[in-house]
Amino acid sequence: MIKIDYRFAMRDLIKKSGLGKNELAAVLKKARSVRNGLAKEKNSGLLGFAQVLADRQMVSDCLGFAQPFQGKIQNIVVLGIGGSALGARTLASALRPSRELELKEGRPRLFVCDNLDPDWLTDIFAIVFSEPSLFLVISKSGATAEIASQLLYLMTRLKEAYSDGWRQHLAVVTDPEKGLLRGFARQHNLVCLPIPPSVGGRYSVLTPVGLLPAALIGIDLEGLIQGAREMDEICFHPRNQPGPAELLAAIFYRFAHKGRKNLVMMPYSSKLADFSEWFAQLWAESLGKKTGLDGKQVRAGSTPVRALGATDQHSQIQLYLEGPEDKLVCFLQVEKFTEELEIPAPVKGLKELKWLSGHTIAELLNTELFATSASLARAGQPSLTISIPKLDARSLGGLFYLFELATVIAGGLWNVNPFDQPGVELGKQYTSALMGRKGFEKKKKELESFRKKGKNFIWPAKKK
Ligand code: PA5
Repeated sequence: MIKIDYRFAMRDLIKKSGLGKNELAAVLKKARSVRNGLAKEKNSGLLGFAQVLADRQMVSDCLGFAQPFQGKIQNIVVLGIGGSALGARTLASALRPSRELELKEGRPRLFVCDNLDPDWLTDIFAIVFSEPSLFLVISKSGATAEIASQLLYLMTRLKEAYSDGWRQHLAVVTDPEKGLLRGFARQHNLVCLPIPPSVGGRYSVLTPVGLLPAALIGIDLEGLIQGAREMDEICFHPRNQPGPAELLAAIFYRFAHKGRKNLVMMPYSSKLADFSEWFAQLWAESLGKKTGLDGKQVRAGSTPVRALGATDQHSQIQLYLEGPEDKLVCFLQVEKFTEELEIPAPVKGLKELKWLSGHTIAELLNTELFATSASLARAGQPSLTISIPKLDARSLGGLFYLFELATVIAGGLWNVNPFDQPGVELGKQYTSALMGRKGFEKKKKELESFRKKGKNFIWPAKKK
């Protein structure tokens, strides 16, 4: 079972920068009432990401689609971005062996094309077009510029490579009814799995957005859903104590209000490095809001920072300890690794390292986690540690759900809508305008006049 050790976030242990018991109790009371409100929404079928956990069909559709591809393809290539990409990547890096081992196992590799860097795409396409590959275009709106452009490029490449057989190499995940991609899939008779309309991009990892790529690379979907359902039960029925999601939301929110504007997510596991990426998007895009639900300006949110233990002990930790007192660190711990790796007795010339032998690499890693959190605490810097018993599908499903719910509860504490992202729209409109899209002429003019200003602030200065 998951554990949350928040001693080093409390005033009893870290003195004045910590939370007082009453202070935490007051926020927890609010968090509980937000959670109770969400329970009602859930019971009325309005909390999409919780609702999908009951959809057995979704899992069997993903498994059913994946089955005939077993042993026949070497690469799964996801074209998706943001919430349509990060879940799949997190699942693959957490639950699958590294790339080289995957090839030996004969299970397909996963490539996630979630950026437009043309050199990088060229490299990936060179690999995946030289081996049997399946492409998944994943986009809820079906209109995201990054994915639309990749799809157009992909279509030419697919037709070149497979001529009329291209349809066997492409599947789509998108809205069940609407959007360009749904129409495209219908027209060409492509397999097209639905993203439930009630589930927003960054909350969609446990829908076909994450589950379809996961099924294709052999991840245990049942375990993922089971873990998420167990977490749902603990969060909504915590039995005489705060539920873990409201506890996290309360701690993260309260520290942000006390000036801890950076929330560092620091797993002590290379396999969970992408989990921090996934969390960063969830937290930032859900909570970074200018306006509250009452129309008042709130400037909500805290900035998620990705770090990795033990690697960042030799990089960022110096800043966390002695730099600005504006961070809360959330460690993620794997209690038991699959391979503990015993450290052997030293050979000749390395005798000074005897103190390490007899221990395991896993033990050293988790000791370093505790040592780091304790040294932060001694320096008055708050942290908490979330531990999972082992890194498997069940634990990961639980973690996804825990952080999704905690984010939504934090949205309630800040009184913002955690499901929209109004701030990212203007950049998209400017891009469309500059790329000559019809209907965006006004935006283009606006941007051009903006661009003309302040030219003397460009280095090197233009010769007069
Ligand atoms: O969380 C979100 O809603 C976003 O990050 C989207 O996932 C991202 O913009 C991609 O959108 P789409 O799936 O519509 O292509």
